[in-house]
Amino acid sequence: MQEPIYDFGLIGLGTMGNNLLLNMADHGFEVAGYDKDLEKVKVLANEKGDIYAAETIEDFVNSLEKPRKIMLLVPAGKIVDYVLADLLPLVDEGDIIMDGGNSYFKDTERRQTECEKHGHYFLGIGISGGAEGARRGPSMMPGGNKKAYDKVKPILEAVAAKVGKQPCVTYLGEGSVGNYVKMVHNGIEYGLMQILAEAYDVMKRGLGMTNDEIGDAFTDWNEKELQSFLVEITARIFRVEDQETGKDVLDLILDKGKQKGTGKWTSQDALDVGVPIPTIDLAVIARAISAFKQDRVAASEILTGPETVIKKDKKAYIRRLKNATLFSFLVTYAQGMDLLKHASVEYKYNLDLEGVAKIWRGGCIIRAKMLEDFRRAYKKDADLANLLVDAGIAKKVNKTQKDTRTVIADSVKAGIPLPCIGACLAYFDSYRTARLPMNLTQAQRDFFGSHTYERLDKEGIFHTEWGEKNV
Ligand code: 3PG
Repeated sequence: MQEPIYDFGLIGLGTMGNNLLLNMADHGFEVAGYDKDLEKVKVLANEKGDIYAAETIEDFVNSLEKPRKIMLLVPAGKIVDYVLADLLPLVDEGDIIMDGGNSYFKDTERRQTECEKHGHYFLGIGISGGAEGARRGPSMMPGGNKKAYDKVKPILEAVAAKVGKQPCVTYLGEGSVGNYVKMVHNGIEYGLMQILAEAYDVMKRGLGMTNDEIGDAFTDWNEKELQSFLVEITARIFRVEDQETGKDVLDLILDKGKQKGTGKWTSQDALDVGVPIPTIDLAVIARAISAFKQDRVAASEILTGPETVIKKDKKAYIRRLKNATLFSFLVTYAQGMDLLKHASVEYKYNLDLEGVAKIWRGGCIIRAKMLEDFRRAYKKDADLANLLVDAGIAKKVNKTQKDTRTVIADSVKAGIPLPCIGACLAYFDSYRTARLPMNLTQAQRDFFGSHTYERLDKEGIFHTEWGEKNV
């Protein structure tokens, strides 16, 4: 029987799980891994270092020091419940189970209740950074019981990405907050990725630039205010050739967007909480429209539009496009943070937005230089109504909005769809408009449904007899 000598155990030995264990071992922790798939256990057993690769879940559980610290890194959904069903009969009171996958936050609440009934702790820990992040330092978003978190804190802090000396992990609060924050992280990720795809479309089809030129533009953007992981990898993508054909890999990739669900969940929950995040909504929709490839190909023969060209001086226009991208990035983060602010009230998360900005500065997919500006904004005012009204951010969006309008107007004229960049501008224009035309909508509701309205000039609830009712 295996001696209980290991500090931390991980179930789910995909690339991410393997890499996270290697990262922990590098930091001097004694770790054990298990997977139902014995081929994966073999891969772990062949890794350098003193990692225990368990062949049965019983050996795995028995190898861990108490209170056991067990992380699941398995695909979100039913598999988490299957693993828990195998695991729960084997663990003891006080043991800590962590779910490091992209679980739906309401599933986490259900699992927490179930685990607590048996005296176990269940932490929902959003982890971002992909396989590379897991190996070199991810950003982690933990939520759940604070005492349980404190027991795993030294390990998580040691392996997390660092900005300066600060680890990109912090306790976010009780319940499902860790998974919620990771869900919104992914929603923002969807928005930023679609914005970059739209900028690519403007450069490729609008300005007629080559892949090399586009790669150079993104490289240049990554030097300054837009410096971020996503802009960096985007620039690199334009430089990769297919070994077989010698063509750029990008040009060979089918233009059908796939998704695993976190962006959609973000939009669905934002609608439930009543917070506008149109850029994220449109990013999910952009993937959905792209998936109808056959229909689009057929429609392209039937439906007409203008010549897909933007006849402008390339160099000057790329500067404008860069400003439109910066503007859109800022507005997308603002929407995501606004959702977190309101969801925190709705779900009683008591979330510290400065803390969120702080742990997103490194390790995660949406890490970017501008996250430090966001952190500062929330440090100055923890109750900031919206990131856009922070003086520093307001200055940037006010400065870049003009170029954003130009890019959108030219793209509309050229028939190039910019759903997310367009949604950012519409959100900005709506948010900065003191009087919106919603008075008419209210009048219509009152007209056909006697739904009443409030007035500008006096307090109370009012109804008007508008004339003959049609509905
Ligand atoms: C992930 O969490 O796996 C990534 O963020 C990608 O999500 P997606 O497959 O929904 O784009």
